[in-house]
Amino acid sequence: MKLTVIGTGYVGLVSGACFAEFGVDVTCVDKDKEKIHDLEKGIIPIFEPGLDELVHRNAAQGRLSFSTDLKHAVATADVVMIAVGTPMRAEDSQADLSYVFSVTKEIAESLSGYTIIATKSTVPAGTGTAVKKIITEINPNANVDVVSNPEFLREGSAIEDFMRPDRVVIGVESEKARELMKQLYRPLYLNETPMVFVSLETAELIKYASNAFLATKISFINQIADLCEKCGADVQDVAKGMGLDRRIGSKFLHASPGYGGSCFPKDTIALAKLAQNHGTPMSIVESVHESNLQRPIKMVQKIIDAFGGSVNDKTISVLGVTFKPNTDDMRESPSLRIIPILQERGATIKAYDPAGMEAAEAFLPGVMWCSNAYQTMEESDGVVILTEWNEFRALDLEKVKSILNQPLMIDLRNIYKPNEAKEAGFTYYSIGRSVSDSSSKGDISALKASIL
Ligand code: UDX
Ligand code: UDX
Repeated sequence: MKLTVIGTGYVGLVSGACFAEFGVDVTCVDKDKEKIHDLEKGIIPIFEPGLDELVHRNAAQGRLSFSTDLKHAVATADVVMIAVGTPMRAEDSQADLSYVFSVTKEIAESLSGYTIIATKSTVPAGTGTAVKKIITEINPNANVDVVSNPEFLREGSAIEDFMRPDRVVIGVESEKARELMKQLYRPLYLNETPMVFVSLETAELIKYASNAFLATKISFINQIADLCEKCGADVQDVAKGMGLDRRIGSKFLHASPGYGGSCFPKDTIALAKLAQNHGTPMSIVESVHESNLQRPIKMVQKIIDAFGGSVNDKTISVLGVTFKPNTDDMRESPSLRIIPILQERGATIKAYDPAGMEAAEAFLPGVMWCSNAYQTMEESDGVVILTEWNEFRALDLEKVKSILNQPLMIDLRNIYKPNEAKEAGFTYYSIGRSVSDSSSKGDISALKASIL
């Protein structure tokens, strides 16, 4: 079985390496020559736990190769997987399908023999059918089946998610394609991983619906956290009590500064737009998106409140800038909205992130980057935890207290317990807990009006 993956970003590279691990002969193609050149030399362009080792091993064993020659890689493939980006289109917030359609045209011109063309990229329902139309218009004799095979890979645990998925979703239109896809996923099929075979449109929608539902869970618990602060409840315990109900489940109920990353923000908007286009607006998803947009502003207000109403002339130590731990990805990270507002309000920001600083530098001018957590705290008036990297979970609180100008901690990921922080002598603020301390005292509408 020969697989060609087009687009060697997060999804394409992880998928390619994992299929190679399954024993498939994989070629990863990208138009970015430098990226391919680096990969050929063994340089991995992204931070993803376990990926280096997986790529090196499979490349060394000859099952994984890299190329910019799309034509050749398509002509020799049994399955061609499209994994190029589908970013949000600036003018109307819909999914930008231009990369998907441009590689489709190149694929159409290069086909030889029966080939499956599978979309891994997240695309609106109807895209697979459009891909098929483009192929048959350009190459009427093409012998192809179009398949939708969405990814459910979380950055930071993408390999585990690929190797041990809850399910594999495959939209197919023919028995032949179904059998070939089963073969491609043979190790998982043998492991009895649920394989959901559906139509193209259904598979495409399963992806958007799943991401929008998870984003809804997060926004829901974030709003419950706001309420907890007002009425004396603890959001961690509320989430635990809810999550034990198996109909609800405990996952994705962690209150936070809002969801970020390359998927949830763009996929919720794209789903809302798709629904609007079809005349069935989804007010729930629209409101989730709106609530998530407001979230960083609420967090800024919380920080300003913690500093007694102003951060002017304060030096703030920020721990973590990536949108989640175990990634260097800065896309749509809440830090990109929170930090600039604090700077506008007169704060000096010192920050440290275990993997994201190189990527963050260009987006966060004026930040003083430090080489570890404790260094950021030197001459700082307080520390803000923005991303829950493991190394921030067990800070030496005595040491932190001795370094900071004053023992002030604002924990926007709830990684410390209010009692332990209080006992260690900290003025401690978190999300949806410590009622008397953390409920917003400032005027958030005034802050919003001045920012928006
Ligand atoms: C992926 C999916 O494509 C997206 O739809 C999903 O919702 C999230 O995951 P990701 O892997 O994060 O996106 O994309 P990115 O890191 O931007 O990588 C895309 C790659 O495709 C880049 O390396 C780019 O150079 C390559 N590309 C893009 C091509 O090779 N050809 C093109 O025409 C366009
Ligand atoms: C997501 C999907 O989970 C995955 O299936 C795939 O479709 C790609 O997009 P990813 O964006 O890598 O994965 O990370 P994820 O773990 O889903 O987190 C997304 C954002 O939600 C992060 O900013 C994270 O901090 C936030 N989050 C997550 C919360 O705020 N609370 C939670 O309980 C869980």
